[in-house]
Amino acid sequence: MTDNVVFTRGVPPPEAFPTDELGECFDAAIREDPSVVLQYGQQPGYAPLRRVLAEEYGVSEDEILVGNGSLQLQDLVSAYLVSSGTSVFTEQPSYDRAIKTFRRRGARAVGIPLEEDGISVERLEATLAREVPAFLYLVPDFQNPAGATLSLEKRRRVLELANEYGFNVIEDVPYRKLRYAGEDLPLLREIDPSRVITMSSFSKLLSPGIRVGFMISPPDLIGAVTRLGEDTYLSPVLPTQAAVAEYLRRGLLEPNVERLKQLYTPRWKAMAEAVRRELPDAQAFVPNGGFFVSVMLPEDANTENLVGRAKERGLVLTPGAAFFADPDDGGPVPGDRFVRLPFCAVTPEQIEEGVRRLASLI
Ligand SMILES: Cc1ncc(COP(=O)(O)O)c(C=O)c1O
Repeated sequence: MTDNVVFTRGVPPPEAFPTDELGECFDAAIREDPSVVLQYGQQPGYAPLRRVLAEEYGVSEDEILVGNGSLQLQDLVSAYLVSSGTSVFTEQPSYDRAIKTFRRRGARAVGIPLEEDGISVERLEATLAREVPAFLYLVPDFQNPAGATLSLEKRRRVLELANEYGFNVIEDVPYRKLRYAGEDLPLLREIDPSRVITMSSFSKLLSPGIRVGFMISPPDLIGAVTRLGEDTYLSPVLPTQAAVAEYLRRGLLEPNVERLKQLYTPRWKAMAEAVRRELPDAQAFVPNGGFFVSVMLPEDANTENLVGRAKERGLVLTPGAAFFADPDDGGPVPGDRFVRLPFCAVTPEQIEEGVRRLASLI
């Protein structure tokens, strides 16, 4: 095989999109409610969609804001909660675009090491003894980029610390419903919602192009972020929100998630097996769901210009350093040794070939 193997994109493949069903829902949504859906308005999001989400999460409608993708909501939350010089804590590594939005809003992004069962609580406590962040940003289920899932014990401890020190916790859970094995752990908000802002999205369950993401938080923060949103984009994109509401009303989400799990499970297994076989000396994170496996290559691996050499061998990788915030202890960042391996948009054959190429380079 000489074709490129692309391990850069954490996106759903085209065969994941429920195109016909979504098309029918768009048509129905626009025709049934044109005076609302085609007009400016409903700044916190399309009311019927907020209602369904409020029901699912056991909150009131004024605790729900639906916007144009969850990343923009994250950015608006940062604009509200961060002032120049404040810090935001993240897992280390963390979602690169989130780190970027925090920094753009003036925050120092401080990375707390990630372990296989989630953020290091000891390191979090040590850093809290020095400073308290505007918020702690976590991706507790099948993390992007590493794949780690936060254990129940650590979920509880993080919330205790949030109450003790008085900081908010963002739990960003776009991959949560894509579990291929094992049992769900509770959301942080299900354990104690008092300091939790939950964010999620339909990007990985339906389509990223529709840009429908949402947040759940106390009404005062929802109100503040809604006003910032109105000043930024005037009105959210209501036709896509109405189409999602229609999709949910027809009971189509659950069967679609099942279909996605069937599509992704062989790819997940192929990646897990290939990494164990081809990279036995690397520290591998192999989650029970989501989009990403990752590896921390051994210290003596040849990581010099790895992304460039990989490209010459037909393997496209994301530079690991992009996923790292400022280290909590001022120590070195092992970005060169970190490789994210998204498996959903590649076939098992491409996965095997790609991981073989990676192993041959180090
Ligand atoms: C952890 C995480 N949060 C947020 C997003 C962005 O989601 P959205 O498409 O809803 O903006 C992504 C997309 O890759 C992600 O991995």
